[in-house]
Amino acid sequence: MNIHQERMRVPIKDSQLLSRLLAYAKPYWKMVLLGIVLAFLIVLTDLARPYLLKVAIDDHIGALHKPMLAVDAGREDLLAGRGSILEVDGKAYVRLPADAAPPPEKEGVAQRQIVEIGDDAYLIEGWLKGKETPAVTENPAGGVTLASGGQSYAGTLLSPEQTEAFRKEDRGSFVTIGLAFLAVVAAGSLLTYVQGNLLQYTGQSIIFNIRQQLFNHLTKLSMSYYDRNPAGRIVVRVTQDTEALNQLYSQVVVNLVKDVIVLIGILVIMLQMSVKLSLLAFAVLPVLAFMTFWYRSIIREGQRKARLILSRLNSFLAENLSGIRITQLFIREQRQVEQFDELNHSYYRAGMFTSTVNSIFQPAIGFLGNLAIALLIWYGGIHVIDGTITFGIVFAFTQYIRQFFQPLLSLAEKYNQIQTAMVGAERIFEMLDEKPGIVDSPMARPLQGETRGEIEFDHVWFAYNEGEWVLKDVSFKIEPGQTIAFVGATGAGKSSIIQLINRFYDIQQGSIRLDGVDIREIPLDDLRRRISVVQQDVFLFTGDIASNIRLNNEDISDRELQEAARMVHLDEFIRSQPDGFATRLGERGITLSLGQRQLLSFARAIAFKPQILILDEATSNIDTETELVVQDALQSISKGRTTVIVAHRLSTIQHADQIIVMHKGKVREMGNHYQLLARKGYYHRLFELQYKEQARAQSTAPHAQSTAR
Ligand SMILES: Nc1ncnc2c1ncn2[C@@H]1O[C@H](COP(=O)(O)OP(=O)(O)O)[C@@H](O)[C@H]1O
Ligand SMILES: [Mg+2]
Repeated sequence: MNIHQERMRVPIKDSQLLSRLLAYAKPYWKMVLLGIVLAFLIVLTDLARPYLLKVAIDDHIGALHKPMLAVDAGREDLLAGRGSILEVDGKAYVRLPADAAPPPEKEGVAQRQIVEIGDDAYLIEGWLKGKETPAVTENPAGGVTLASGGQSYAGTLLSPEQTEAFRKEDRGSFVTIGLAFLAVVAAGSLLTYVQGNLLQYTGQSIIFNIRQQLFNHLTKLSMSYYDRNPAGRIVVRVTQDTEALNQLYSQVVVNLVKDVIVLIGILVIMLQMSVKLSLLAFAVLPVLAFMTFWYRSIIREGQRKARLILSRLNSFLAENLSGIRITQLFIREQRQVEQFDELNHSYYRAGMFTSTVNSIFQPAIGFLGNLAIALLIWYGGIHVIDGTITFGIVFAFTQYIRQFFQPLLSLAEKYNQIQTAMVGAERIFEMLDEKPGIVDSPMARPLQGETRGEIEFDHVWFAYNEGEWVLKDVSFKIEPGQTIAFVGATGAGKSSIIQLINRFYDIQQGSIRLDGVDIREIPLDDLRRRISVVQQDVFLFTGDIASNIRLNNEDISDRELQEAARMVHLDEFIRSQPDGFATRLGERGITLSLGQRQLLSFARAIAFKPQILILDEATSNIDTETELVVQDALQSISKGRTTVIVAHRLSTIQHADQIIVMHKGKVREMGNHYQLLARKGYYHRLFELQYKEQARAQSTAPHAQSTAR
């Protein structure tokens, strides 16, 4: 059943993909059309080159021996429409094609031909039909007789000057044809340049839009999407897959048209020049075409594998470099290096496979092409001597056969690129089709005026993955302006509660209310604007200190910026930096200590002047001395706003108005520090434990505490 579904799905999907891809190209259809027109012109210049050579060879280089018609000067009218006229020694000549049939006898029109024997050229009366070199006998009365094939012709020996006179026009033509050839080549290059730029521009513009749309979309996707998709994979999609699409738009489509025109053009010209030689060429070309496509399909498979490995390699790198701290901490470098080695090796092998196949097939295909040319020389040569085919045509054929290759190879290649692009497109569209899990409800109304900051969890049930309850029937109420703390073992669900307040995930049952309004009925922007969260891992963006605090929010004035920094006691440090607030962070900038990063994230939270401030283990990175500073800062920032603190160190939260003890997704105890201690329950045990630990730590290793992370 599955297989059938697959089969039924694929064609529909492909056509859908195509129509979506076309939709992106639609605004640029004029460019694409122009690209195709240019492609057509480029093909013309490509095909014109061998043709010009053929003309040069047949009509000029080898033209001296062509059958001619001659008339006396002044009677040129008899030759009208027969071709261009050569004037030599008071007579007018016209050259005819080598295989021309003698025209009907006409008064005053004579047949003439030039025959070269050794270094001598003779002008004979009549057309020499024999194939052997004629025998020459001198007539005592002057002139010569040439005998060949049982026929004899009267003739005269031409002086070098006379021969030159017959050649004169040819020499002129070489210049003309040479210039025309040059012009064609130049035009071809120019058109290719213009077309290349045009297509690049088109492709890049389309992809620019797609990438933009993709990124916009990505910023809206819910956290659960990012839980499912590692960042490395997403990066690969946004970069590699869009690049594959770029290829599709900028090269594949238009050049596909071009290749087809070239192939058809060559076939037409060949057939028109010589049917016999065309048939000969066609005997080899199908084999060539077959070989080419076979070869491309092997290569394609190899490249597909290579790309797969590459994207795995990329993800691995992205993931491991961002987790390098952990890797080093847990001394897992060796293991990671081994894994990388493995991936690296398979990538190497994949690359080697393609080049091995290349090294076998390319010469083989080259051989076939040359075989076709050898056949042409053999067969064509015979017929040139016959006089049934001109040398120029044989020569042009060798050129056209060579030219036939290029589009054939590139068609096979295009097929490959289209496949890649389709896969890329599919993945990109899949990403674009991913509905943001969390969206504004149609009934969402902005909150009126200032938030009071009352948060209420009402019988909340929540699971990241269906069936695995992380929060079970959690209820509590935080009054406006209160400071409330969550404690509990790792995995108890504290961070989850915080993510829910921000609505990074939607709950399955119950209700979360801000100022009495279910947060699902508050516009997301509106909700999140009122809440600032400080987490344990601080993410710093590339940029300076100021932009990392205000996160490009222009509403935050410099004064507010300084105020925020002062409140977390970072102002002195910042002032001591070379560029103050404009000091760059991270790459090519200064590195902050973990504690400083944490303080910076506090400043960030404060600068946004939230009504609700949430600290999720935000003080864990801070040493005891700095913590005193932060405690002090906390006191002042928590004034007048609802503050939610998750902390390991109970000392941090002792002054909270309410402490909620979480255990395995449930609220275990609730009350202030003294009430909870008096209950002698879970909190009490935790307190005792930490108290003892602290005492021990202080007595044995007084410095450990202040440097601990
Ligand atoms: N993004 C997530 N996807 C799936 N499970 C998660 C996710 N985040 C946390 N969990 C699980 O939810 C439970 C509660 O985690 P968390 O709220 O982070 O606990 P705490 O902050 O108290 O240590 C844990 O079992 C954890 O494995
Ligand atoms: Mg947590």
